[in-house]
Amino acid sequence: MNEKKLVGEKAAEFVKDGMIVGLGTGSTVYYTLEKIGQMVKEGLQIKGIPTSMATEKLAHEFGIPLTSFKEVTYLDVAIDGADEVDPDLNLIKGGGGALLREKIIAAAANTFIVVADSSKLSAKLGSFRLPVEVIPFGYERTAMQISSIGCVPEMRLSNGNPYITDNHNYIFDCEIPENSQPHKLETVLNMIPGVVENGLFTKMADVIITLDANKKTVLM
Ligand code: 5RP
Repeated sequence: MNEKKLVGEKAAEFVKDGMIVGLGTGSTVYYTLEKIGQMVKEGLQIKGIPTSMATEKLAHEFGIPLTSFKEVTYLDVAIDGADEVDPDLNLIKGGGGALLREKIIAAAANTFIVVADSSKLSAKLGSFRLPVEVIPFGYERTAMQISSIGCVPEMRLSNGNPYITDNHNYIFDCEIPENSQPHKLETVLNMIPGVVENGLFTKMADVIITLDANKKTVLM
């Protein structure tokens, strides 16, 4: 059974005619995008704002019309995946490198829906290393500052070179301290000069779509 497909397709039920939708990034939300594409073909008037260049490409492939913040100020709903979800609906995101646009879009949405297969659920955040997006200038110093608050940063690489985000930045994947308080850590990291955004999404998710022990979709 493909858990990602089950939760991804379920999320499309929250999308209605006339809505502006934040289109997330990753292999779970892929199935949501595919469904939304079908809904558009059936005649529903839906427009999306993509969270990454990869999703923009998929939206074109699936025939989902796009809009931007030049034309709209908010979204009805945003649907995205997560790398880790705790019982308070705090998230770690950014495994796919799209965390900055994902957070801008989630924050602009009236309802933020997260699709997470059962492997993403965790009693406490931290088993997935926290992605932190930093500007290239002075990244060595930014890494020191991140270390000074107890995180252990490692530069994300792609073919031996620094991984470059859609916003032309770097990403540090960080081990976080065991006793971290997610909201506090999210705020403190973002106060470090050079940090653009981090993958902690606290107090943002409205609904998590996941699976119960019988592999039935449930809402958290
Ligand atoms: C990308 C993300 C993704 O939503 C997250 O990595 C989950 O991806 P997937 O659905 O492929 O497991 O945050 O930046």
